[in-house]
Amino acid sequence: VLACLVTGATGSIGRALAWRLRCRASHLRLLARTRRGDLPIDAEQVTGDFADLASMERAFAGMEAVFLYTPACPDARLLQVAARQGVRHVVLLSSASVVKVAPEAANPVAERHRGMERHVQQAGFDATVLRPDTLATNCLAWADEIRRHARVSVPYPASLRNPIHEDDVAHVAARAMLDPGAFGGRSFLLTGPQPLSIQAQVEAIGHAIGQSIECRQIPAQAAIEGMSRGPSAMTVEVAARLVAYMEKTTRERPAVTADFLDVIGQPPRRFAEWAVDHAHAFRPTAVPTLPASPARPDAGPPTD
Ligand SMILES: NC(=O)c1ccc[n+]([C@@H]2O[C@H](COP(=O)([O-])OP(=O)(O)OC[C@H]3O[C@@H](n4cnc5c(N)ncnc54)[C@H](OP(=O)(O)O)[C@@H]3O)[C@@H](O)[C@H]2O)c1
Repeated sequence: VLACLVTGATGSIGRALAWRLRCRASHLRLLARTRRGDLPIDAEQVTGDFADLASMERAFAGMEAVFLYTPACPDARLLQVAARQGVRHVVLLSSASVVKVAPEAANPVAERHRGMERHVQQAGFDATVLRPDTLATNCLAWADEIRRHARVSVPYPASLRNPIHEDDVAHVAARAMLDPGAFGGRSFLLTGPQPLSIQAQVEAIGHAIGQSIECRQIPAQAAIEGMSRGPSAMTVEVAARLVAYMEKTTRERPAVTADFLDVIGQPPRRFAEWAVDHAHAFRPTAVPTLPASPARPDAGPPTD
């Protein structure tokens, strides 16, 4: 039983991990950029920013195991600070793009995660690296259109994805945090249990909220423009890569791995279960929620 620090405790995976580690860690410290009242109250809360090394030094002090998000600009010094403060085990939230996308593609999402994985290794940590493929939480981007118009507009409704529940990623993270001896030095490619078309995902959300939702096909260019507007806008380049990836996955089936099953001993949750768990976000009466991070320029599945 270890003293554990969860960074990104306001994020979808970090928050789920915080709840899973409550009562299990000998001491649980949660890091957020600003103080928030909606985190587990029986844990210590600290504020800090990956880019502010002094704040991270305070956050790492006395912690044995750390769950780390990959920062927007990975910096080797962050890991050096962790090592100096006595952190022995790192569980890194990386991305499947590290193994799915060729280095020649110069994909910024893959490069960012590769860079962070390298820093973790070079700092000498026997880390556990989690590489989720597509997070089911990406579908929350549809919430506004579903609430307002009972519709989802996408360029390729037949595009296949294999989304994983954020709490399933947190489940693997919790195992790794609490048992570094068994999981240190290993990496896991995490997927959902079966590929599903976007159309089928929209139907599952409709089923969860008891309402029929139209899955409307729009031109690729209109989709890119839509994704590069609004509060959680991404750059045109990233939007174009995502749309190209959607087209590609109308022809290629995404991977299904057994990594979750191997660690947890049961299959990951089906998308239909994720939809039920998040039905409140899609109901017409739902209060619109701001994205967890204001700017998520590289959110979304790995693209190539
Ligand atoms: N989307 C996908 O399909 C996909 C696929 C593979 C991998 N991934 C990985 O998973 C991540 C998304 O996970 P998620 O959905 O749990 O994320 P999320 O809900 O967007 O949360 C991100 C967390 O990171 C924190 N954070 C951001 N910048 C920070 C900084 N400079 N210093 C300290 N904390 C900071 C945020 O804190 P604040 O609340 O203060 O903003 C927030 O708690 C992606 O960034 C990527 O690395 C995603």
